[in-house]
Amino acid sequence: MSAETKILEVKDLTVTYSVSGKKVRAVRGVDLSLSKGEILGLVGETGSGKTTVGKAVVRLVKPSSGQISIGGVDVTTLSRSDMRPVRRQVQMVFQDPYSSLNPRMTVLQLVEHPLKIHNIGTRTTRKSMVGDIIERVGLSKSVLSRYPGEMSGGQRQRVGLARSLVLSPALLVADEPVSALDVSVQAGILNLLVDLQKDLGFSCLFITHDLGVAEHLCDRVAVMYLGEIVEVGTRDDVLARGYHPYTKSLLDAVPVPDPVVQRNRKKATLPGDPPDPLSPPSGCALHPRCRFVVERCMSDQPELLPLINHKEQLRDVEGELCRSEEIETKSPVSGHLVRCHRVEDAFALNARDAVTSGSSDTVVQSNKELEGHRSNALSASGTLDRKDKEF
Ligand SMILES: Nc1ncnc2c1ncn2[C@@H]1O[C@H](COP(=O)(O)OP(=O)(O)O)[C@@H](O)[C@H]1O
Ligand code: SF4
Ligand SMILES: [Mg+2]
Repeated sequence: MSAETKILEVKDLTVTYSVSGKKVRAVRGVDLSLSKGEILGLVGETGSGKTTVGKAVVRLVKPSSGQISIGGVDVTTLSRSDMRPVRRQVQMVFQDPYSSLNPRMTVLQLVEHPLKIHNIGTRTTRKSMVGDIIERVGLSKSVLSRYPGEMSGGQRQRVGLARSLVLSPALLVADEPVSALDVSVQAGILNLLVDLQKDLGFSCLFITHDLGVAEHLCDRVAVMYLGEIVEVGTRDDVLARGYHPYTKSLLDAVPVPDPVVQRNRKKATLPGDPPDPLSPPSGCALHPRCRFVVERCMSDQPELLPLINHKEQLRDVEGELCRSEEIETKSPVSGHLVRCHRVEDAFALNARDAVTSGSSDTVVQSNKELEGHRSNALSASGTLDRKDKEF
């Protein structure tokens, strides 16, 4: 595997479920990639298809079409036995530590199990490996003889992490790993995950509905709506402002702790419920809920395009809305992609709404300010360490 080989590459992934004889396309044409040591956040409302993407990556569900490569190996059609060495490289942490651990197995048996399956070590060396990883996730070796039912939710999720990391995977798929836990223990688990990722260097597909958590943990973020990626880019590109109307609505749904700021915010929360995936809307899937909708949105499905291309496309669009200098200065290689026919207008109006008046400098400042407030609001117990990285 060369240095540039992506740990994960997902191309045009579609996953269809059968519900009462009807087909539900839970994931529609998703493209994703993850470099070595990178954390990619997959965010969106419940039902947007995040878990299904994660399950497809670890082969818990079968793609209907598309391609999944892990470490440069196309695993989409690999047989069970051919998949075995690759499976060692990809592990999943589940949302619910209560149901994901067999209650009849001790911690030692649970964490040793993947080593046994992959014929790694002897009984003695395996016990020592289990002891090491148990301590690394912040537990004492004394828990090895305990059963999951004798532990707290936070401890169980630490065991879940130990079980996934004992094989030293290259890729960890973490599906809402803290959302079933008490707020008081969430920050501890998230900080642990960040530390482990730094020490062990694995890549992580981090699935969450919580934008604050994504903001703290992730290098890049992909936003899903009704099975599709609608925006993807670096954490700062996607979460600082929200170019896509859906991203913006998710950001606005996050409360900020300062009552004055919260009261004065203009919010772009979406009306109505997500559409029925059995009969998705025509054109842009967001159009029944989008305040920027125009006729074209109802018939033409927007593509996921770099902002620079949007700029090209929208060069002739008339309007009294301010033009965003941000968009003009974007490079086509920034990897910031947005799926919206009117991204420039939507961004400009969203930005203008963030302040009641003022220049575009004030707009950017105001959004930065909100970003800071959001981080504070979502740092769980206030002890979440920000993962500082240069992009
Ligand atoms: N096993 C399943 N059978 C049928 N439909 C499913 C199944 N799992 C998920 N779905 C449907 O697929 C869509 C995406 O679900 P999911 O991937 O769980 O989304 P998320 O993780 O974002 O909440 C939803 O409409 C959900 O009802
Ligand atoms: S394409 Fe149209 S409906 Fe869809 S998000 Fe953009 S403006 Fe809204
Ligand atoms: Mg889910």
